[in-house]
Amino acid sequence: MIFHVITIFPDYFDSPLKQGVIGRAIKEGIIEVNPIDLRSFTTDRHRTTDDRPYGGGAGMVMIPQPLAKAISSVKREGKDAPVILFSPSGQLFDHQLARELSCHKELILVCGRYEGVDQRIIDRFVDLELSIGDYVLSGGEPAALVVIDAVGRLIPGVLGSDESAVNDSFATGLLEHPHYTRPRRFIDMDVPEVLLSGDHKKIEEWRRKKSLEITLKRRPELLEKANLSPSDIRLLNQLKKEQDKG
Ligand code: ADE
Repeated sequence: MIFHVITIFPDYFDSPLKQGVIGRAIKEGIIEVNPIDLRSFTTDRHRTTDDRPYGGGAGMVMIPQPLAKAISSVKREGKDAPVILFSPSGQLFDHQLARELSCHKELILVCGRYEGVDQRIIDRFVDLELSIGDYVLSGGEPAALVVIDAVGRLIPGVLGSDESAVNDSFATGLLEHPHYTRPRRFIDMDVPEVLLSGDHKKIEEWRRKKSLEITLKRRPELLEKANLSPSDIRLLNQLKKEQDKG
């Protein structure tokens, strides 16, 4: 899979993309990240990429010409690749969307800066505006890294078999259960007995219960869409009663 990233900070991506599973996948050629310097599509001496907004107001707006040229030049190579613009007003990025995006061979990620991007670029060239959360970043670059990581790890071969994504939080529709490793006692805290029991059925039940408990407490709205078994529903009713009492 190829991620083309249009940005005025192509070097921004150097170090993060050398690390961890994504770094390894890039080295092995399973994924490719192609940062494209927006300024190389400017024609003036100052390599301008922004200007003052029509109608007045604070901040600068990214001018359309270099963006149009940059997107068109990648489109020629990347044919059907969807164009994604990062913006705090975009659709909220989630695991389901990461899964959908992972089905494409190439993506064109456009990093906005300043107050935004000239609307005509969005109207003519952008397929999807994406936000990574309800906060404002100073540009789309951190959002591009988030998307490359979350989508990249779903590409076959990126994760090793012991790093599988199937149990990740959200992959199951629920938040993940807590994890423990050695030592058995840390300060004055012990690993839950059940995890030492060797009883795999009991362990799975405990993990499922913890998943439900943590999801109910932190993100109850996820339970509405999650795939719940009759025993999950029983457990949830029990947990809700306990919550009401406590
Ligand atoms: N650019 C600025 N804020 C952003 C956000 N929350 N998500 C994506 N791109 C952004």
